[in-house]
Amino acid sequence: MEKLYVFDTTLRDGEQVPGCQLNTIEKIELAKALEFMKVDIIECGFPISSPGDFNSIVEISKVIRDSTICALTRAVEKDIDVAADSLHFAKRKRIHTGIGTSDLHIKHKFKSNKKDILKRAIECVKYARRFVDDVEFYAEDAGRTENEYLARVIEAVIAAGATVVNIPDTTGYCTPFEYGEKIKFLCNNVPNIDKAIISTHCHNDLGMATANTIAGVINGARQVEVTINGIGERAGNTALEEVVMAIKCRKDIPVYTDIVTKEISKTSRLVSTLMRMPVQPNKAIVGRNAFAHSSGIHQDGVLKNRESYEIMDPAQVGVNESTIALTARSGRAALSHHYKRLGVDLNEQELDLAYDKFLTLADVKKDINDQDLLIIVGVTHSKQNQRIGLKFLQVVCGKGSAPMATVKLIIDGEECCATCSGNGPIDSAFAAVKSLIHRKVTLEEFLVQAITRGSDDVGKVHIQIENRGNIYYGFSANRDIVTASVEAYVNAISKIV
Ligand code: KIV
Ligand code: ZN
Repeated sequence: MEKLYVFDTTLRDGEQVPGCQLNTIEKIELAKALEFMKVDIIECGFPISSPGDFNSIVEISKVIRDSTICALTRAVEKDIDVAADSLHFAKRKRIHTGIGTSDLHIKHKFKSNKKDILKRAIECVKYARRFVDDVEFYAEDAGRTENEYLARVIEAVIAAGATVVNIPDTTGYCTPFEYGEKIKFLCNNVPNIDKAIISTHCHNDLGMATANTIAGVINGARQVEVTINGIGERAGNTALEEVVMAIKCRKDIPVYTDIVTKEISKTSRLVSTLMRMPVQPNKAIVGRNAFAHSSGIHQDGVLKNRESYEIMDPAQVGVNESTIALTARSGRAALSHHYKRLGVDLNEQELDLAYDKFLTLADVKKDINDQDLLIIVGVTHSKQNQRIGLKFLQVVCGKGSAPMATVKLIIDGEECCATCSGNGPIDSAFAAVKSLIHRKVTLEEFLVQAITRGSDDVGKVHIQIENRGNIYYGFSANRDIVTASVEAYVNAISKIV
């Protein structure tokens, strides 16, 4: 098995997304998380682009010791000078330089010709090698570059000292077969290709970034350029978690990565929170529903043997367990599973009765919670008493007023009340709830969705909180989004055993 190097560009290509910009402290936090999960190379920014980007690379270089720190440049000497400066403190450093090689880029972006671009490519690599031993060259828009010319450029930059050659499908245009063939063509037609590592860098405009990356690896690439959650410009980049888990699950791809996969879920939540970019629920590996089974046939199969409907153990990516979601399509097996989890013993007849009531309720109520299940079987004491409910909520907010919230909760049947201030009505109400529950709870995800878009719309709120390393999910829907948010928060907290 050969090693596949994982090059993460969340902090560079990912951070280019409008609204996802991070400050230096946040970038350091993310870089540390990436190093902890054993990412081989962390691309930290484009230092010539802004003093903030430059400074972040300097500061990240001071704290990261194991991963290589990489800085991006154009094929311009000034860019390379600044990149070299920004990497001064890095223990392991790489300059990533390059130029567009497709006819479109050569003609319209550079108003140049193939001969001149080849010359500039060679010169930028030679210049970067004056500062560092590890130089990666990118042939921008390689996906749409004619293979014969691409091979000549790659051969020349390797001769000039490039240690890694990046073949970006910048516009996400390639199909997996075509991209795989491109990598194979380079392996077979660049005489000195054994002197460098071929890297993939695929964008997701047609939803094929992961497939293209895997095709690249199968055909000889030994580095993959990826981002956490597939974050990136337009439709994004290749998702780290998808490629790493594909390599881990598919034994027929003859490479391994060093990624500590148990860190994937946590790192995904960190990126989503820091970049204020919710992860779609059905996102492979890291979406909320990635390990949630809701149809009766699947639930029954998973409860008998997880592998019936799961190709990986959720624990491998740091998810505690699969979720058996209760909906109108769930079967008896799922219901029985939840009653067992709640400590309620039902014989066959009782389960049949409960199932009929459950189906009636599930037809009208989308989210069936533990409390509903207990009410169905007439359990009104024990576990139910431990549940927490929101009894009253009042907020003060608006222009010119200091946000404040008063919250009344029922905890173990007892009513308790707190008033807190915060950064807004929701922050104030969450602070009041926290002050009453005496548990250390961290908000991991907070997503508000409108249903019909009108101002009288119902807001759906999804929340994930963390307590002692476990993640709890809460949901509520209400015309009043502050109430929906607090209900969802309380719903998640009430699941902490
Ligand atoms: O997509 C791309 O071509 C890039 C290069 C700058 C590496 O991000
Ligand atoms: Zn890119």
